[in-house]
Amino acid sequence: MSDHPFYFTWTAQLKALRIEIEKSRDCYYLTTEGRKLYDLSSTSYQAAFGHSFSPIKKAIQSQLNSLPISSPKGVFELKQRATQKLIEYLNIPGKIFYTVSGAESIENALKMARQISGKEIILARKNSYHGASLGALSVTGDWRTKDHKSLSKWTKRIPDPQVDPNAEKLAQLIEKIGAQKIAAICLETFIGGNGVISAPLSWWRGLAKLKKKYGFFIILDEVVCGFGRTGKPFGFHHLPIKPDFICMAKIITGGYIPFGAVWTSKEIASYYKSNTLSCGLTNYAHPLGLSAMESVIDSLKTTQLKEQIKELSHGLETYKEKFELIGVVNEVRVIGTLMAIDLKKNIPFQRFIDEDILVALVGQRIIIAPPFTMRPSILKKLLKRIEGLLKEDSHE
Ligand SMILES: Cc1ncc(COP(=O)(O)O)c(C=O)c1O
Repeated sequence: MSDHPFYFTWTAQLKALRIEIEKSRDCYYLTTEGRKLYDLSSTSYQAAFGHSFSPIKKAIQSQLNSLPISSPKGVFELKQRATQKLIEYLNIPGKIFYTVSGAESIENALKMARQISGKEIILARKNSYHGASLGALSVTGDWRTKDHKSLSKWTKRIPDPQVDPNAEKLAQLIEKIGAQKIAAICLETFIGGNGVISAPLSWWRGLAKLKKKYGFFIILDEVVCGFGRTGKPFGFHHLPIKPDFICMAKIITGGYIPFGAVWTSKEIASYYKSNTLSCGLTNYAHPLGLSAMESVIDSLKTTQLKEQIKELSHGLETYKEKFELIGVVNEVRVIGTLMAIDLKKNIPFQRFIDEDILVALVGQRIIIAPPFTMRPSILKKLLKRIEGLLKEDSHE
């Protein structure tokens, strides 16, 4: 195995899985061996428009020729217009802080929540991932946090909503910690990469009541679920909850350029009128990111893409039942165009590559998140191949 002058992420380097890529098109990578590798996980959930979506490419290209760089102090038409479009698409009045990644969006929401409340503790789920920076890792509860001495004394793990459907255990925990110490709760609207899991609506209602009683902030992580992935513009549009912060990244630019954003409520915005916003970055509100984001929002509003998302979601629903009949499959969950297949044993990544399919594979779980631009007939063909593969594994 040849060595490389760069690192592979989240792995011992000698064990790293690698894909030799020549270029990419539509909804697949073309490998150096000339094979098409279908991107059934939208890469890391960001490539929702596939790999050669003209509107985003054109928007970035034309921005490169007019204003490719801007100072964070810059005020220009695109910044005003695209931000307005984002707020309208969120359908909730507020103000936007820009970043370049999901972790940074979380990081800045945590900083603001702590600064404004003057409190330290953040409540978070054990089954969660919020990003790789130290602050975002401190609220992350999955395996990725364990090697880092992150700021875990600032974080308290809440009881899983599945075993606390009315948020009564959560109320007890808040009483035990002391509401005067709790700045915020940080949650994915629907758990994405860690299993495509929704919390009961009664739990969200319970949480809304607790927020009203104790006054902590609600930080929603929409890094995976935002921009159409769950069938509505954002995950919180399905839920009876009013957030204070909404963290975005990934599909915000379809992955064509690193970018992210934090929506903050009007109350937060009004705090920062006279208090210093002690947050910032060199590439704040980068014009190329803004141009891609505007194109993403415009595209998601088209009837054609809305219909396509519905069809893909329906395609996944149809296969849910088929997969659940297979011996090696434990449970299947679908939310919009996100599907998790829980298996009874490990299936090597290479088995999927051999079928020309790229999925997210975490232990005994497959996550499928097709690009919105994938033809439903192609999705069906690929799901059929996965069905065949799972059936084979059930016989082994
Ligand atoms: C739910 C969630 N939040 C935050 C992040 C971090 O995003 P990024 O890798 O862009 O920092 C991720 C990344 O996978 C994620 O899945």
